[in-house]
Amino acid sequence: MTPEEFRDAGHQLIDWIADYRTGVEERPVKAQIEPGAVRRALPSTPPTGTEGIEALLADLDDIVVPGTFMAQHPMHFGWFPSNAALSSVLGDMASSGLGGLGISWESCPSLTEVEEVVCDWMRQLTGLSESWSGAINDTASTSTLTGLLVARERATELSQNSAGMQGLAKPLVVYATDQSHSSVAKAALLAGFGWDNIRMVDTDPITFGMDPAALAAAIDADVSAGRQPAAVIATTGSTGVTAMDPIAEIVVVAAGHGVWVHLDAAMAGSAMLLPECRHLWDGVEGVDSVSWNPHKWMGTILDCSLFYTRDVELLNRVMSTNPAYLQSAEDGEVTQYRDWGIPLGRRFRAMKLWFHLRIDGVEAIQDRLRRDLANAQWFSGVVANAGPQWSVVAPVQLQTVCVRHEPLIDGVPLSGDALDAHTQRWIRTLNESGSTFLSGAVLDGQWMARVSIGVESTERHHLEALWQLMNDAAGAGD
Ligand SMILES: Cc1ncc(COP(=O)(O)O)c(C=O)c1O
Repeated sequence: MTPEEFRDAGHQLIDWIADYRTGVEERPVKAQIEPGAVRRALPSTPPTGTEGIEALLADLDDIVVPGTFMAQHPMHFGWFPSNAALSSVLGDMASSGLGGLGISWESCPSLTEVEEVVCDWMRQLTGLSESWSGAINDTASTSTLTGLLVARERATELSQNSAGMQGLAKPLVVYATDQSHSSVAKAALLAGFGWDNIRMVDTDPITFGMDPAALAAAIDADVSAGRQPAAVIATTGSTGVTAMDPIAEIVVVAAGHGVWVHLDAAMAGSAMLLPECRHLWDGVEGVDSVSWNPHKWMGTILDCSLFYTRDVELLNRVMSTNPAYLQSAEDGEVTQYRDWGIPLGRRFRAMKLWFHLRIDGVEAIQDRLRRDLANAQWFSGVVANAGPQWSVVAPVQLQTVCVRHEPLIDGVPLSGDALDAHTQRWIRTLNESGSTFLSGAVLDGQWMARVSIGVESTERHHLEALWQLMNDAAGAGD
């Protein structure tokens, strides 16, 4: 494809994207297709000739869009918001169009230096001190794994330079809670800790945040048993109920044993753009690494996970590779992002964040986050005041409202397996309808529904519509 052909096809594609985004609200939230439908609609053998953009746009309309979950739909309340601000889409396109190669500073100086600047802007915007330096990873899963690998190496004085974990006298232990994201245990397993050495520390029964006394007890027990505590993965804004671990207290416990603390704020990091929310991660200056995803609530299109550490030197020692073919005259005076994480080659991910911040503006992003916080408080009030059958089952810390509907059968509230079946049934009814989408989760052994507010286009009237739909699906008032 020549640049001129690209110009023509590209204009058509931009028009297609703009039309598609305009029409999102008219579509079902959940894709109304059977498994395998997309695959069957495509030829099973590769194309032999050439095709124009028109054929591809037709397939987008006929095959891809019907098979797409409308994450940008204002009636989407599932999982966590995965906003894809169009300003950031432009940045992503610019990044692809530039075709930069991020394997060293020399291979694309602007890729490195825009990333340095944008990470530092984000540091300032979230109130972190100058002691932090950041990089952009693809996902929080990668960021957590990165934090754990550095933690492992600090605990073992760089065991990777000798026999690695296989030469250790004491097993290394990681601490998290049952509210931690599944990526935390996965990272611990990938980093070689093993299930036997992952502790799920007790949480507070009301807030679901990690209990620092229980953490201290778990660490003491491991030390007494001849094991070595290596890392705590704390969470600001857990996936199920947006629980906030008490960072300041965790940091004190961890420091007593030289334990690395990584803070997973994948979702809630966006809230730190609001000064009034920063108390939720009080103590953050004492952790060793922290990550969060602008690609969630803030809305810089996937994939964009910020990773900050206060110990860049150690991070670089753990991650450094310096083959002859990557060496250049500028080594020593420039940042080599390949030494900040797992991959060698990196995309120009900073571009979409750069576009997002500059085109939409920080104030507009903050206003939207505040709107969502207010909507969550309003919705939680509606549920809490709706009578005894509805309840809000966890504190509403940010934009997620966790609810349960407990119908009365002969005057007795449904419970146990029957309540679980009821909850899963009404959530499925809603989701299959295509009108809206919620995700369920298990809290204290019982299913509940999460209303996760924060899609860019979700306004109060969408929540009013959701509440009506929830009542209809749960049979409230029958
Ligand atoms: C608290 C938390 N941590 C980590 C993740 C994983 O994020 P990613 O998909 O970027 O790996 C999520 C995803 O929702 C999350 O909520």
